[in-house]
This record gives sequence, structure tokens and C-alpha cells, in this order.
Amino acid sequence: MTKPNVLSGMQPSAGSLHLGNYLGALINWVEMQDDYNAFYCVVDLHAITVAQDPAELRRNTRVTAAQYLAAGIDENKSALFVQSHVPAHAQLAWVLMTMTGFGEAGRMTQFKDKTQKGGTDVASVGLFTYPVLMAADILLYQANKVPVGEDQRQHLELTRDLATRFNSRFGETFAIPEGVIFKETAKIFDLQNPTAKMSKSGDPKGLVNIMDDSSVILKKIKSAVTDTDAEIRFDRETKPGVSNLLGIHSAISGQSIESLEDHFAGKGYGDLKSEVAEVVLSRIEPIRDRANELLTDEAELDRLLAQGAQKANELAEKTLGMVYDRIGFIPSGR
Ligand code: TRP
Repeated sequence: MTKPNVLSGMQPSAGSLHLGNYLGALINWVEMQDDYNAFYCVVDLHAITVAQDPAELRRNTRVTAAQYLAAGIDENKSALFVQSHVPAHAQLAWVLMTMTGFGEAGRMTQFKDKTQKGGTDVASVGLFTYPVLMAADILLYQANKVPVGEDQRQHLELTRDLATRFNSRFGETFAIPEGVIFKETAKIFDLQNPTAKMSKSGDPKGLVNIMDDSSVILKKIKSAVTDTDAEIRFDRETKPGVSNLLGIHSAISGQSIESLEDHFAGKGYGDLKSEVAEVVLSRIEPIRDRANELLTDEAELDRLLAQGAQKANELAEKTLGMVYDRIGFIPSGR
């Protein structure tokens, strides 16, 4: 029996992934490699929907890929690749754009949020069509499952609508993808502002980066916001800071929240923070060190990515060929 396909991607928009990217997403990708035909990409085409410095983009693309590998994405099991290395993403996106309503795209809440401050004059058309490019990423690989965060749910709905629309107009072409929305416990919050999701645009002191030095990570966890009642108990409503620390511990150690509450009964916040720091560092340090090692040999890293792109291109070209044919483009004769 052939395995179902999975596709996911992350933007190379920072010099490091953070703990939320790792515990919320990457861990699941690693787990899915065995049961799925997996495609994981660094979405550099998406990254340029906001201005990027070229040297930084180049560096961040490699750093992101190195972290995928260091965290356990196995280039022999999965196709690990860079989006711009597979031309079909931009090509299919164009076709899908012609099938997306202007108003339909305008209803995407992420676009509305992102343009709320600057207004639509500073936002590019690329930012507007971002979700259509994401649909192309997914549909090219006939992905059955797409692991994403809650904030991508609407984009996934659009993808399903576009696939259904294309199929009913031109005949069965695309698999209809299903989202794998991550569990609530996999959600990691800002250490300084524990009701907001951990994010690179949040408080830098509340952000644990995979590539940070251990001393920096230790300091950030030790300064995490808690509360004044000194009781170690999971309650997101009234104790968001303490709950976040327990959630981080649980996501890495695999111990249930209840067993952690028992374990910390009668102990203080200092103990909780020390132990969380220990658990986090023991997991993050080897990943960071391995990623740095991979980055010392750029030629080898680029070779791995080229190999991933080759695998990805095979299926992407096949899907795009089918699409071009169904919509009535004549063969190119290549
Ligand atoms: N938009 C996604 C995010 O910001 C990234 C992304 C791009 C993606 N293409 C994708 C995620 C395809 C899943 C599948 O998180």
C-alpha cells in the first residue's frame, strides 16, 4: 500500500527557529516521516512577501534547513527542499490565482491583520496572494495531510475550496488536503507575555531561540513571568505563566501535566524554572550544535537540498503537467 502524502513548510524569516516552532510543528513533522510520504520545504517565496535583505535571506534559508535536519528530518525519508528550487510552485500559484475570487482572497484574516497598521498601499500584491501560493505548495504534492498551526486554518480552507473548484471544473486532479491542527498542549506561549503565542515579533526576552547560547536560554527561562500565589498548578486562565512552563516541560519530557503537578507539589517557582531550563537545554543543545555543524559545510548542505528538490520536482512537475493539460495549454514539446 502506498503511504499518504504530507506537506508542510516554514518561512526562513529569522536567524533561528524558536521553541514554539520546534515543539508546535517540527516535532510533529519528524514523527510523521515514517507513516507518510513527506515533503518539507523552506518557503523562501513566501518570505519575500515582506522585504528581505538578500544576504540575510540566504543565511536564514540555510539556517532553517539545518535546523530541520538537526531536529530529525531525515533527508532519506523525506524530501527536504527550498521552495524556489521547484519552479512549479510559482507556476501553479498563477493558475490558482485566476480561479480565486478577489473578494475571497480579501477575506483572509491574516492579510487583514498584517495590513491593519500600514494599510493596503504598503502591502504588496504578493502578500495579498500569499494564501494562493500556499495552496499551490500543498496541491502540487497531492498532500493528504498538512500539519499547521491554528492561524493557518483559513488558508487551508481556501486550499480545499480551490482544489474542489478545479476538480469539478476540469476533472479529478488534486487530492483534497486535510489539516492536522496541533494539539492545545503543543502551543507554546511568550515567557514574558504568557497569553500571547511565542513569536519572533513578540518580546525578545520571552522568546527561546533554538540557536541561542545556553546561558541566554537559561536567563530567559529564569526570568519567565509567573504569578504571586506560589502554587504550581496548570490553569491557563488564572496562571498562564506557570501553565506555559508546565506545558513546555510536558511537551519535551513526555510527562503528563498531572504527574508534573504531583512532582512539583510543595516546591517553588525557582525549582520549576530550574527544571524546565534543564529539560529545554538538554533537548535544544544537541540540535543547535548539530545545526551549527551542518552550517560549517555549506556545499554539503546545499547538496542535500538539491537532492530534496529533485525528489520534490518529480511529483510537482507531474501535477503541473496534468493541470496545464486540463486547462487547455498545448504541450511545450520539451
Ligand atoms: N503560511 C505558513 C505559515 O506561516 C507557511 C507555509 C507556506 C505553509 N506554505 C505552506 C504551511 C504549506 C503548510 C503548508 O505558517
